[in-house]
Amino acid sequence: MIIIGSDHAGYDLKEFLKKNLERINMPYVDCGCDGSSVDYPDIAESVCRKVLKDPDTNKGVIICGTGIGVSITANKIKGVRAALCADYYSAKYTRMHNNSNVICLGGRTLGEGCAWEMLDIWLKTEFIGGRHNARVDKITAIESKECIENEQ
Ligand code: RB5
Repeated sequence: MIIIGSDHAGYDLKEFLKKNLERINMPYVDCGCDGSSVDYPDIAESVCRKVLKDPDTNKGVIICGTGIGVSITANKIKGVRAALCADYYSAKYTRMHNNSNVICLGGRTLGEGCAWEMLDIWLKTEFIGGRHNARVDKITAIESKECIENEQ
């Protein structure tokens, strides 16, 4: 399932991407906003928590003005590998190499067509594993170490 959310600055792009997901019969859950002003960390957290309920099949899409605020927030959550994308190559290779489970987009920085092409390729591309497994495992190990150190 696709979990999508935005703040007010990403609202128009969220609505555009939802229409495209509907066109290709891709189901999604919309975590808001409804266009009114909200704080991007709240939306980012809400999308990521839902993604992690079924991490093997769910993927998240989060949009704010630049995509930066939501990506910073998302990457604080254990188990999230959020990729801020502004080009097609990055959108494709962050799935292949990083196994990203959340894509972050800028509603005020991207054209609609460009944003949709990036989301489309990101959704269609699989993680290739191999040598990249060990690298992603290292990210997870750092994340776990950080959690333990923060508790001390
Ligand atoms: C909201 O004005 C804006 O700060 C937010 O959408 C985002 O760009 C933050 O990174």
